[in-house]
Amino acid sequence: MNHFEYRDGRLFAEEVPVADIVRRWGTPTYVYSAATFRRHFEAFDSAFAGLTHMVCYSVKANSNIHILKLLGDMGAGVDIVSGGELYRALQAGIPGEKIVFSGVAKTAEEIAAALKANILMFNVESLDELRAIDAEAGRMGLKARVSLRINPDVDPKTHPYISTGMKKNKFGLDMDTALTGYALARDLPNVDPVGIDCHIGSQLTTLEPFLEALDKVLGFYRKLLEMGIYVGYLDLGGGLGITYNEEEPPHPSAFGAALGERLKDLPLTLILEPGRVICGNAGILVFRTVYTKQTPVKKFVIVDAAMNDLVRPSLYGSYHRIEEVEKHNRPVESVDVVGGICESTDFLARDRELPGVEPGEHLAAFSAGAYGMTMSSQYNTRRRAAEILVDGAEARCIRRRETYADLIAAEIDTEG
Ligand code: LLP
Repeated sequence: MNHFEYRDGRLFAEEVPVADIVRRWGTPTYVYSAATFRRHFEAFDSAFAGLTHMVCYSVKANSNIHILKLLGDMGAGVDIVSGGELYRALQAGIPGEKIVFSGVAKTAEEIAAALKANILMFNVESLDELRAIDAEAGRMGLKARVSLRINPDVDPKTHPYISTGMKKNKFGLDMDTALTGYALARDLPNVDPVGIDCHIGSQLTTLEPFLEALDKVLGFYRKLLEMGIYVGYLDLGGGLGITYNEEEPPHPSAFGAALGERLKDLPLTLILEPGRVICGNAGILVFRTVYTKQTPVKKFVIVDAAMNDLVRPSLYGSYHRIEEVEKHNRPVESVDVVGGICESTDFLARDRELPGVEPGEHLAAFSAGAYGMTMSSQYNTRRRAAEILVDGAEARCIRRRETYADLIAAEIDTEG
């Protein structure tokens, strides 16, 4: 069931016409469907029903605290990568014991905040970091639960900017260094090695790289057993892809079945850190056409959203389907959909077949619920978009549009 669908040529988010949202809150605006978040979380979680597991939603994909609350209410834990994400998660009421902390640059301050929150575990990405966690835990008189992130050197066959588990990437520890790391963790007084972690990349559209990585990680797990190190958690990260255009990623149930086959007899709690698969197709970005412009070689549809709102097309050349909010049935033409930012890479779509659009009419970019708002910026001193959450027939603003005063607030309220 798709919760963004057309009825008589009008786009609806669940039971609410998107045109009504635009009238009330303006554009550019992110619109999310609560039923879609729930359905995706439920489908993902139930895919692992046969295994002892935890779903730790990856906050970076969409970090609005109302979304974190919605998922937290369904039992989700979270994967965080910064003190800021920890703050959001705690504000949203996610308990410390459901939080895992990844990322290569955790500072002493962030480590201390996470220890104070008594998080489930740190996914450690270097030996320096392991020592820093030990030192901080020692200072606080606590013991830190850790996993070491293994870099299994597997090609996830996705965009190079979002591949993380290859030798040349900055993430995790190669297997040899990781073995040294576990021996060190065993000897350090204030850390307790409780798990193994691995995340190889994002927007994966086949299962093979996951399984290749899992096999390597399980080989590593057996080596740890030989060393007398018994861990209880296996964190396989996130990365399952979604359909933006014509991709056909495996359904979570196929992912669950494939992992289940390999893990069913092992005394391990599986942790997963899905982001995009939960929220990517739960959100759209709605914007207004400001002008159209025909040049000798191209037609531009110039809109009030830009790369500061949705940077994925500019950064990765990503495809987001674009459609009218109200269909006019005009002939199709090839256009570039661009924003008002002073960069030639500021586009939402290039050479796209779209029905003719007039100034004042609204368009929607689909599959914008993940890495949309969270990667937005204020570049060109633009206010960040509003976010609206639709639940059935109710639409509510979960982040107001920024004001001009917001844009300079931190410059006025300085410390000296
Ligand atoms: N766990 C870790 C440690 C991660 O680094 C990530 C994503 C995830 C989980 C969640 O991955 P997902 O299930 O969403 O694929 N900005 C890019 C995506 C970057 C992903 C970074 N890490 C994009 O817009 O495509």
